[in-house]
Amino acid sequence: MKIVVIGGTGLIGSKLVNKFREHGDEAVAAAPNTGVNTVTGEGLAEVLTGASVVVDVSNSPDWEDAAVLKFFETSTRNLLTYEAAAGVGHHVALSVVGTDRLFESGYFRAKIAQEKLIKESSIPYSIVHATQFFEFLKGLADISMDGGKVHLPPVLFQPMAADDVAAGVARIAVGPPVNDIVEIGGPEQFRVDELVRRRLATLKDPREVIADPNARYDGAKVSWETLLPCNNARMGETRFETWLTQPAAQIPSAPPQPTGATVGTKEKETRKKAS
Ligand SMILES: NC(=O)c1ccc[n+]([C@@H]2O[C@H](COP(=O)([O-])OP(=O)(O)OC[C@H]3O[C@@H](n4cnc5c(N)ncnc54)[C@H](OP(=O)(O)O)[C@@H]3O)[C@@H](O)[C@H]2O)c1
Repeated sequence: MKIVVIGGTGLIGSKLVNKFREHGDEAVAAAPNTGVNTVTGEGLAEVLTGASVVVDVSNSPDWEDAAVLKFFETSTRNLLTYEAAAGVGHHVALSVVGTDRLFESGYFRAKIAQEKLIKESSIPYSIVHATQFFEFLKGLADISMDGGKVHLPPVLFQPMAADDVAAGVARIAVGPPVNDIVEIGGPEQFRVDELVRRRLATLKDPREVIADPNARYDGAKVSWETLLPCNNARMGETRFETWLTQPAAQIPSAPPQPTGATVGTKEKETRKKAS
């Protein structure tokens, strides 16, 4: 089976390509670096020829509100149009647990727009909602800086290892389309501020983490359970302490993701450059 992974050179995408190949499928990594650009349409018709499944794990290079909306709308529209022409039978997209509850955030409004286009299209689909990745805990601190300290809301989340995200997405991609949302999450719940504090300590990062009930989550107000997956979410196996012993945890810096609290203008610029 030919599976095209849009964003196949990224964190989740590169793991997915390996998993599909190990499973015996023909997996193609599609990204600007491999000559496929979903925003301009470059290379899309060629790469989708003969594809049964498309997995979209791309991300916008710019998270300014209007730019990220334009990215996900244009990219998703183009993809779905070319997929219909190529006869693709399953469109899989990776999104975030709680997306529909985080509409105050420009990033999440863009993900909501992406999901709406998928649901309205004629292509059978599966939308995977994953919780935050362990790999982005430091990035979360980076985008949550205010007055030299990390400000995070003291609310629950259930983060997971990127390896488990890729395994969950791969399992769903090779199965029949569910035409619905499937949630995946980690095996343990933590308070956001507490886990980021622990992660920074393992990196010997001296920044102070403040549990700030007024801190927003990438611009969105969150309450105690906003970021949690539903009860029947599929669970990744890797516990945080186990992940810390793995090579992925030894990388001190990963590009920040849109999973943070109130971000000032300066921090927004930093985030944009880092991405
Ligand atoms: N971070 C979290 O905690 C979290 C949680 C749940 C879900 N997610 C979702 O997970 C998804 C993937 O995240 P990630 O961290 O794996 O992303 P990533 O490492 O930043 O990779 C993004 C990929 O998108 C590609 N891309 C960018 N512009 C493109 C374009 N115009 N056409 C085709 N490909 C393009 C990039 O290619 P180049 O390298 O060539 O630019 C790269 O391969 C995102 O959609 C995000 O919303 C994230």
